[in-house]
Amino acid sequence: MDTPSGTVDEVGQLRFNELIAADSRVEPTDWMPEGYRKTLVRQISQHAHSEIIGMQPEGNWITRAPSLKRKAILMAKVQDEAGHGLYLYSAAQTLGVDRETMFDQLITGKAKYSSIFNYLSPTWADMGSIGWLVDGAAICNQVPLCRASYGPYARAMVRICKEESFHQRQGFEILLSLMNGSDEQKAMAQESVNRWYAPALMMFGPPDGDSPNSQQSMAWNIKRFGNDELRQRFVDMLVPQAEILGVTLPDPDIAWNEERGHYDFGELDWTEFHEVLAGRGQANTVRVNRRRDAHEGGEWVREAARAYADKKADKHAAKQTENAETAHNETQRIAS
Ligand SMILES: [Fe+2]
Ligand SMILES: [Fe+2]
Repeated sequence: MDTPSGTVDEVGQLRFNELIAADSRVEPTDWMPEGYRKTLVRQISQHAHSEIIGMQPEGNWITRAPSLKRKAILMAKVQDEAGHGLYLYSAAQTLGVDRETMFDQLITGKAKYSSIFNYLSPTWADMGSIGWLVDGAAICNQVPLCRASYGPYARAMVRICKEESFHQRQGFEILLSLMNGSDEQKAMAQESVNRWYAPALMMFGPPDGDSPNSQQSMAWNIKRFGNDELRQRFVDMLVPQAEILGVTLPDPDIAWNEERGHYDFGELDWTEFHEVLAGRGQANTVRVNRRRDAHEGGEWVREAARAYADKKADKHAAKQTENAETAHNETQRIAS
């Protein structure tokens, strides 16, 4: 269709460019380039999947948490993650992809989610490390997303980030308690931090030079900072917190660099990252299988919800017919 000033796509593109240049929000009803929409669908759905799969390493410990208080906190935290998944699936749906499709991609192993959740959580201290390091890295990654150009995504992130900071604190507090405990507890905390530290740093993705999509995402104001800059911020945040905890970060190259005003840190082993990404992590199969079982096991709930919605719709329709008949009879009575 042509308009006096050009095709709908041309006008839409101009308007979109203006929105991005003004650092404004793009809303679901606005015209957007197909690449922008696809990038967002991929990013938001992967993010939603990560929240949902991310419930598993901690869900694993709910029944074994050492006290009622710890159990209640952990349960609240895992429930928050389910909520994050739901906000994000809803945000992705505004881009025209339906939830069943996304679920299907996840349980058939077609969709990606954050590799960090393919690591096992064998000790209670892992609940501390996941909160402190994994949710900590998530915060560094996600705070800038509160300013992402796509409105529904940015708004979902505001709420998510508030909850993530509670998650990080509860993890830090678990480790702090262990570090104030027996030698065995201290060793358990340190051993866990040793396992989670590098994978948490890899959550920011490969170095910028190896991350070709990053540039485009930054040009579209979806991403605000490069992977390396965010990783640096994370390390700068961790070092003083590790000192308070009394744990040692497992990297002998960590040192304050006066000139840069940041902590230097060692090279990461990206071979491991790519192995996990390729499906050869500790728990890739376990995670997807459990999600598939949960989805299939929940079919009766969805069926019941559908039956209830249909019944309600039938009742509503019957009521409307009844009202229309009453009104019709009333009109006829007045007319006669
Ligand atoms: Fe989350
Ligand atoms: Fe979290």
